Amino acid sequence: MALNIIDHPLVLHKLSIMRDKETSTMKFRELLQEISMLMGYEITRDIPLTYEDIETPLMPMKAPKIAGKKVVVVPILRAGLGMVDGLMKLIPAARVGHIGLYRDEVTCQPVFYYYKMPANKERLVILTDPMLATGGSACDAISRLKKDGFKYIKLMCLVASPQGVKAVSEQHPDVDIYLASLDEGLNERNYILPGLGDAGDRIFGTK
Ligand code: PRP
Ligand code: URA
Repeated sequence: MALNIIDHPLVLHKLSIMRDKETSTMKFRELLQEISMLMGYEITRDIPLTYEDIETPLMPMKAPKIAGKKVVVVPILRAGLGMVDGLMKLIPAARVGHIGLYRDEVTCQPVFYYYKMPANKERLVILTDPMLATGGSACDAISRLKKDGFKYIKLMCLVASPQGVKAVSEQHPDVDIYLASLDEGLNERNYILPGLGDAGDRIFGTK
């Protein structure tokens, strides 16, 4: 497992505004989309290229084009949805799958409610969820994808706790993790500290 922390100054600046409890729902959503695009640039860095013959107005050349696996962006509902648009701006031809999971408020265990993926299992999955707290939701989502036959999976989160990273790396060592920030830990209700609160509520304005 590789842990990639995309701590570019633009990403960190935008994340700091998102963390601020005074930031509005509209601004929060906008910043999440912008950060997702910046992170997507790094996540797609190792997509293989092929060389095709083209002619510029001046001469023929072997031009690099993306050759590799097709991509499917898969948000974990609800909060993962906030990262989809930024990625789709970079990879407009990507498919979109959905995994519905919510964390039970008392047990903090993930509860599964929806799964819809495209048929081609060879696609590279970019699984999105802004928050990696205990890691239970991400681990469950990855297990379901693998059971369904998907083999190439990258996990893209905004903020993670060390516990969440440990859980994913132990249960799914083949999955690379991309984060904007590795935070300090979890509180007694398994919220990330300092974190940014409940990502789903802040994206959709449900609190
Ligand atoms: C949040 C978050 C993750 C999960 C992280 O979702 O978006 O999916 O909790 O916690 P974990 O790592 O401990 O599993 P939530 O259950 O609040 O659902 P929502 O996105 O529908 O609000
Ligand atoms: N889910 C969230 O939205 N935030 C956290 O800090 C933990 C789980």
